[in-house]
Amino acid sequence: MRSTILGAGHYVPSKVVTNHDLAKLMNTTDEWIVQRTGIKERRYIEHSGIGASDLAVPASKMALEHAGLTEKDVDAIIFATLSPDHNFPGSGCFLGHKLGLGGIPALDVRNQCTGFLYGLSIADAWVRAGVYKHVLLVGAEVHSTGIELADRGRDVAVLFGDGAGAVVIGAATDPEQGLKSIELHADGAGAKDLWLEAPASAYDPRLTHQMIDEGKHFPAMNGKQVFRWATEKMPEVSKLALDKAKLAAADVDLFVPHQANLRINQMVGAKLGIPEEKTVANIEKYGNTTAATIPLGLSEAWREGRCRRGSNVLFAAFGSGFTWGAAVLKL
Ligand SMILES: CC(C)(COP(=O)(O)OP(=O)(O)OC[C@H]1O[C@@H](n2cnc3c(N)ncnc32)[C@H](O)[C@@H]1OP(=O)(O)O)[C@@H](O)C(=O)NCCC(=O)NCCS
Repeated sequence: MRSTILGAGHYVPSKVVTNHDLAKLMNTTDEWIVQRTGIKERRYIEHSGIGASDLAVPASKMALEHAGLTEKDVDAIIFATLSPDHNFPGSGCFLGHKLGLGGIPALDVRNQCTGFLYGLSIADAWVRAGVYKHVLLVGAEVHSTGIELADRGRDVAVLFGDGAGAVVIGAATDPEQGLKSIELHADGAGAKDLWLEAPASAYDPRLTHQMIDEGKHFPAMNGKQVFRWATEKMPEVSKLALDKAKLAAADVDLFVPHQANLRINQMVGAKLGIPEEKTVANIEKYGNTTAATIPLGLSEAWREGRCRRGSNVLFAAFGSGFTWGAAVLKL
C-alpha cells in the first residue's frame, strides 16, 4: 500500500508588496530583484497578530474540501515552518486548536525550505504503517515580521513572502498511485550560510541589546554559497528520486521545485531536461515562502489543470541546514 496526496489547498494574505514598494524602504530596484531572482511581488500579513497557523487555517480547509473530507477526518497534523507563531509550543498545536481538533497529535517540522518533504516522509510512513489514516500536512510561513526592511537586510528581505500550503495524505486506492520515492539529505557544514543566529539557547543571555543592534535577530545568508549548493544538489537528488521510482525525466508531468530563485529553478530544470511548461514557477507573485512553496505550487497547478489524478509529479527542495530532498508521486 502506498500513501498519496488526497487533496491540496493554499492561502496567501491579501497585502501585495511590490519591488517598487521595497525600493522605498531600502536601496534596491525592481530591475535588480527581477534580474537576479524573478520576483516581482510578494504577500505580507495585513497586520500584527497573524501567525503562520492563521495562514494555515484556510489552506487546510481548502485541502480537506479538495480531498472530500472534513476536519473530523484528520488523525494527525504535521506543520512545517521556520517561522512558528511563537518559539514554543509548535504551530501545529495552534492550528489544531483553530481547526477544532483538540486531542489530535500535532508535530512541528523545522527543516526550513525542505520542511514539506521531511513532513511528507513522516506522513507517508504513518499512513503506510497504519498509525494514522489521514494526515494534514501543512507548510506555512510569516516572514514579513522577521526580515530587516532596510539597506542592511536587503539581500534577504527582497526574497521572502508570507503564505501557506496544505495537503491531506492518505492511502492510495489504485496500486499504481501514490508516493513512489522520497530522498532526504542534510549537511550542517552549511548551517551558518543561511541562519538566524539569535535568540539562541547556545548563548547566555539568549538575546542582548548588542545582538539586536548588530541585527543578529534577522536571518543572514551567504547567497552565492546557497546558489551553488542548490543548483548542484536539487538536480542530483531529483535524479536519485526518479531512479528509485523507475521513472525518467520525460515521464514527469509536473515539476514542483521549491521557489527560492527563478534562475536556480531554470538551471535545475535544464540539468534535468524538464521543460519550463512542465515546471511550476510562481515566485514572481509570492517570493520565497519557504516550507509553503511546494504545497502552494501544487495546489495552484492542480486548480489550473496543469496536473490531475494519474499525473507523475516531481518535488525538489533545497534550503537552510543545509537540507535538501526530492520526491516522486503519481497523483
Ligand atoms: C541573493 C542573490 C539573488 C544575490 O545575487 P548575487 O548575484 O549573488 O549578488 P551578490 O550577493 O554578489 O551581490 C551583488 C551586489 O548586489 C548588492 N545587493 C544585495 N542585495 C541587493 C538588493 N536587494 N538590491 C540591490 N543590490 C543588492 C550586494 O550588496 C552586492 O553589492 P557589491 O557588489 O557592491 O558588494 C543570489 O545569491 C541568490 O539567489 N542566492 C540564493 C539565495 C536563496 O535561494 N536563498 C534561499 C534559499 S532557500
